[in-house]
Amino acid sequence: MTHEHTQRLHATAQTMVAPPRGILAADESPGTMSQRLQGVGVEPSPTARRDYREMLLTTPGLAESVSGVILADETFNQELSDGRSVPQACQDAGVLAGIKVDTGAKPLAFTPGETVTEGLDGLRDRLKDYAARGAAFAKWRAALALDTQLPSERAVLVNAHALARYAALCQEAGIVPIVEPELLMDGDHGLERCAQATSYVLEAVFGQLRAQGVDLAGIVLKPNMVVAGLACPQQPSAQEVAEATLAVLRAHVPDDVPGIAFLSGGQRPEVATANLAAIAVQDTPWKITFSFGRALVDPALRAWAGDPARWQDGQGALDERVRANAGVLAA
Ligand code: 13P
Repeated sequence: MTHEHTQRLHATAQTMVAPPRGILAADESPGTMSQRLQGVGVEPSPTARRDYREMLLTTPGLAESVSGVILADETFNQELSDGRSVPQACQDAGVLAGIKVDTGAKPLAFTPGETVTEGLDGLRDRLKDYAARGAAFAKWRAALALDTQLPSERAVLVNAHALARYAALCQEAGIVPIVEPELLMDGDHGLERCAQATSYVLEAVFGQLRAQGVDLAGIVLKPNMVVAGLACPQQPSAQEVAEATLAVLRAHVPDDVPGIAFLSGGQRPEVATANLAAIAVQDTPWKITFSFGRALVDPALRAWAGDPARWQDGQGALDERVRANAGVLAA
């Protein structure tokens, strides 16, 4: 990579994580988005999905709290009702356009209950095309089940390997990769077990990123917070989550990574914000921010519910959540 190319990647990564802004994950696949729409009584269709994303994207003042929006391929290729392309609308709104490039978590051979995230085939050409059409960054999510036995060494290895291959291809194309290894919150595991598994996963991921020549100053890490499983009877306080999360990250995330943008992973919106606040108040070598999906958009989806008359209610609900999260980030 030329010096200029590298500098551009670094600058984009810094923009993505500079406080007080975070990243809006609005990249649900058409299947998942359809289910979410049905959940609030909206008949799913490409237009309904477009309308919902248009409501989010055109929220007044979005760029004050949001640096970038992660889009699904369908959305990236759509036009808003006024005829602007979605990447153009992102630019007009003052936010970077991001693109989810993995094609989903698929069952992994010989490992019941575990998955490997796919999408490497043809990725170099797809990235080139997305970059030409305005994508500044990309996302790839590895989803790892967590219990007393899982994730298996095999699932961690193949997912870390794929994340690093994706990240290298992104950087080659001039796109900043969001590297997202997610330990799922399903189950009754405690905080300690999540800490142990997150350490193991991050060690494997950074091992692969280094082995494959990825420039760590040109990525954004999107990890899970260290939390207890949703079914665990003992739910930790925000202070406990922050301490456990930072202990793990300090031990495994190199200082040259510019920023850490947490996923919400199914935490209730207010809980995710409280945990983020407790983390962000600490001194860290990397910027701390959010890249929440559900914790930002669920209230907006419910407030809008497909009703044109409630368009502003939806935008107000999104505005409330993005400002609440931006408000806790260190200035
Ligand atoms: P959640 O914050 O809803 O976990 O989504 C973030 C994301 O982008 C998952 O890949």
